[in-house]
Amino acid sequence: MGEAVYPVPAEWAESALIDEARYHEMYRRSVEEPDAFWAEEAKRIDWIKPFTKVKNTSYHEADFGIRWFEDGTLNLSANCLDRHLAERGDAVAILWEPDSPTDTHRAITYRQLHEDVCRFANLLKSRGVKKGERVTIYLPMVPEAAVAMLACARIGAIHSIVFAGFSPDALAGRITDCDSRIVLTADEGLRGGKKVPLKANVDEALQQCPAVDSVIVLRRTGGAVPMVAGRDLDWAEAVAAQPTDCAPEEMNAEDPLFILYTSGSTGKPKGVLHTTGGYSVWASITHQYVFDYRPGQVYWCAADIGWVTGHSYVVYGPLMNGATTVMFEGVPNFPDPSRFWQVVDKFGVEIFYGAPTALRALMREGDDWVKQTNRKSLRLLGSVGEPINPEAWEWYHKVVGESRCPIVDTWWQTETGGAMITPLPGATPLKPGSASRPFFGVKPALVDNDGNFLDGATDGCLVITDSWPGQMRTVWGDHERFFQTYFSTFKGLYFTGDGCRRDEDGYYWITGRIDDVINVSGHRMGTAEIESALVAHPKVAEAAVVGMPHDIKGQGIYAFVTCNAEIEPDEALRKELIAWVRHEIGPIATPDVIQFAPGLPKTRSGKIMRRILRKIGENDVSNLGDTSTLADPSVVDNLLANRPHLA
Ligand code: WTA
Repeated sequence: MGEAVYPVPAEWAESALIDEARYHEMYRRSVEEPDAFWAEEAKRIDWIKPFTKVKNTSYHEADFGIRWFEDGTLNLSANCLDRHLAERGDAVAILWEPDSPTDTHRAITYRQLHEDVCRFANLLKSRGVKKGERVTIYLPMVPEAAVAMLACARIGAIHSIVFAGFSPDALAGRITDCDSRIVLTADEGLRGGKKVPLKANVDEALQQCPAVDSVIVLRRTGGAVPMVAGRDLDWAEAVAAQPTDCAPEEMNAEDPLFILYTSGSTGKPKGVLHTTGGYSVWASITHQYVFDYRPGQVYWCAADIGWVTGHSYVVYGPLMNGATTVMFEGVPNFPDPSRFWQVVDKFGVEIFYGAPTALRALMREGDDWVKQTNRKSLRLLGSVGEPINPEAWEWYHKVVGESRCPIVDTWWQTETGGAMITPLPGATPLKPGSASRPFFGVKPALVDNDGNFLDGATDGCLVITDSWPGQMRTVWGDHERFFQTYFSTFKGLYFTGDGCRRDEDGYYWITGRIDDVINVSGHRMGTAEIESALVAHPKVAEAAVVGMPHDIKGQGIYAFVTCNAEIEPDEALRKELIAWVRHEIGPIATPDVIQFAPGLPKTRSGKIMRRILRKIGENDVSNLGDTSTLADPSVVDNLLANRPHLA
């Protein structure tokens, strides 16, 4: 297949912050002299006490540790707010667009945001929240979510945001894991015209979390929700009484900033911990260079704050850089598939950053929904969260961007804090479907299954050979798990979990997860989590979950389920199990296919042969590979004969 290459447009090469020559020069310096490079780049942050040490990291078991700028102190909320007040206090920090276009939008200036954050920080303090304490945030996409994050950062509390689509059980697990005794939520969320019962979910979750003594409830829809006396507070009433100034806490660079739970290949979701200094530098520098960001430009990242993209590129990165950041409460196809582009026109959005799954869904609705909008303000487009197929890339480029806007396809992870492999719009010729080249300070490599480095154009496992400032520092409460998960598969290397191809130009093409993680609509799901939800059902004996190709979602969820002996599986049970998983984890974990199976393919030692199940999920069954080690090969024949998605 011939690959299309889109050269850097002349006006970008001339005017961008980083052109091709500068990229190579800066990249070389960033990896050859990381101390000098990062000491210089860290000047973008206002430090309270400047650091004297820059990089102090090791991936080896004997002296394992990741520390950046370790003797410096700073406050991230001050870097997002206070430092802008003199120069751009009256500029708009957050442009909020509500779910319904007939509701009024909000424009919040840096000065107003500063005041809101100070008030809320004082409220947290008045509830006894101390530096280092964990605050759980379960809020929809409203400006108050950003206020809550910044207020935590201001007083040195560690926020843990739980996506507002997660179930009460999933919420309870995350509250308990990080021992948080305060939860911030809303009466109801609003998405695509539908109400989400957030407060009711919190009440249900808290039955499992007796330690929680404070719940602060934002009125979003005004729906009636019961309030527990002494525990629950009305947000607006409670902040009204608070003073509008709150001195930012002096934080060490390595003090924790936030926890964000994410799925891995085994066990419960992990609490990914990011610290203050390195993360701030990384979110700021990547936001500036990847989006070629200049203060005053209207910038829109369409991610939810429940995911890392929302942390780094809706809130922290843009606000550190003095941006006007758009926050959108709704969904791409409500009230109609023109919604994104109407918002672009309404606010004059110059930079738009979204997920391939949304683009594929919109592409299917036809070009008219896009073409009936103006979109002349757009100069740059971005993609994140999953591989973007060349067809969707071309559509995004041609139809949405009218062949005028470069596309930055940014590969990164919750663990990496910010973009790692990505084009820079003034420097990188684009190849549709490739995340292209490493960002400054990032040293990617490909290894085979035994950890041998592979050279030149090849396929392999993607590892990063050295630390960068935005790297996660630990798994909350389980440092050993951090080491085992990321640094033990290939000794001395950070293992990403992704497979990847490198071409003859040194461009990286992410091919997707090679562990038991699937990527559904850009949301990471551990197959083990869905399996344990299924086996928790009283009628289920065993379950195995794999990914399957899905036109819109990228990957769908394919579950093989073995019922208890006395159970006769039927359509009603299938529906029941789907509802069960939605209730246990949340709607994002809804299985696309459930195949009932009298048995799962196992080796004689009892291990499920997932390779075979993956092939069935992918509908690629002509060559199932070696099945000679199976305890009972007839199990596979039964699975093949009863594939429901072929019915
Ligand atoms: C996948 C989201 C291809 C990848 C920021 C990674 C991508 C996982 C891309 C992390 C991309 C993310 N191209 N694949 N541009 N971006 N991924 O933690 O498999 O939610 O490991 O972070 O998403 O997902 P996470």
